[in-house]
Amino acid sequence: MDKTLNITVTKASTSKLATTNFDELAFGQTISDHMFVADYIDGEWQNPMVVPYAPLQLNPANATLHYGQSVFEGLKAYRNEDGEILVFRGDANQQRLNESAKRMCIPEVPKEFFMEGMRELLKVDREWVPEQAGCSLYLRPFVFAADDYLGIRPSKKYKFMILASPVGKYYAKPVAVKVETRFARAIEGGTGAAKAAGNYAGSLYPALKAQKDGYDQLLWTDGKSHQYIEESGTMNVMFVIDGVLITAPTTTGTILKGITRDSILTLAKEMGMPVEERFLTVIELEEALNSGKLEEAFGTGTAATVAFIRLINIHGKDYDLPDVSPNAFSVQILEALDNIKYGKVPDKYNWIM
Ligand code: COI
Repeated sequence: MDKTLNITVTKASTSKLATTNFDELAFGQTISDHMFVADYIDGEWQNPMVVPYAPLQLNPANATLHYGQSVFEGLKAYRNEDGEILVFRGDANQQRLNESAKRMCIPEVPKEFFMEGMRELLKVDREWVPEQAGCSLYLRPFVFAADDYLGIRPSKKYKFMILASPVGKYYAKPVAVKVETRFARAIEGGTGAAKAAGNYAGSLYPALKAQKDGYDQLLWTDGKSHQYIEESGTMNVMFVIDGVLITAPTTTGTILKGITRDSILTLAKEMGMPVEERFLTVIELEEALNSGKLEEAFGTGTAATVAFIRLINIHGKDYDLPDVSPNAFSVQILEALDNIKYGKVPDKYNWIM
């Protein structure tokens, strides 16, 4: 039987609920009234608590500030028509957090700390799960080194926390992306498959350069030859070429094992869509754009779910994609996923918890 935790709950004396505009939720801007915190001390996870959301006291020598020994997750809670709260694939996030933790020498977070911590936070902050269509409560579990020590070695102390943030759409409209062939997000043997804080920090500079040129995000290529498409921005990326759904495999250790990616591939196969998990070359992508065989391209991730791509820049040349029609695969799959997440259809894969 799973262990049960004794979580101490301290309620906030005031709430931000009344001053939060749930009709205009920008991603990640508002954090709910409470947060979950636990400590790793003397080789054990302990002190599970739900406390009012507040700044942390950090020593300036905190190891995370210097060496980035930190990993995170992103998942969402939805409200169904009966007002019940549904969490999508939390078990997959719990497992992935620990895969990332292993790569960064962070001790595993026991399942009960993740699950019961999340449940307790959702109980205390249940009013924060939006009822507005298309909105959800984004949950951000994360673990970071808590030693105050300037020497470089894995920390001995850690904190595991979960924040909750009510969110609407991540991207308001389809995005323009640029194929990146100079900078790399990941290389084989590196940390690309881990949801490690530093991966995101390292991607900011190339992304900002592309944004200055008018693109929303990058299409990352492999770090060695820059010939193969890997991801898009902070998302996995998928293409529909000549009726086939193509996305990069996650076997090289350079690509995040996206839970939205996995869910879409599962549903696509069920829908009878031909699926190929293989690397697409930049040349192939350009040929598909030139011949009109590229029907759709989209990013997939927890925050955005499906981010439609409207333009791809390859080696300085802009290619427009066809407008996203209501019959497009990406539209259909987004609807199929949302129907499961909001509890509108039976959950035959046991994805809802
Ligand atoms: C997510 O989709 O959960 C992400 O990790 C995106 C985040 C960097 C905003």
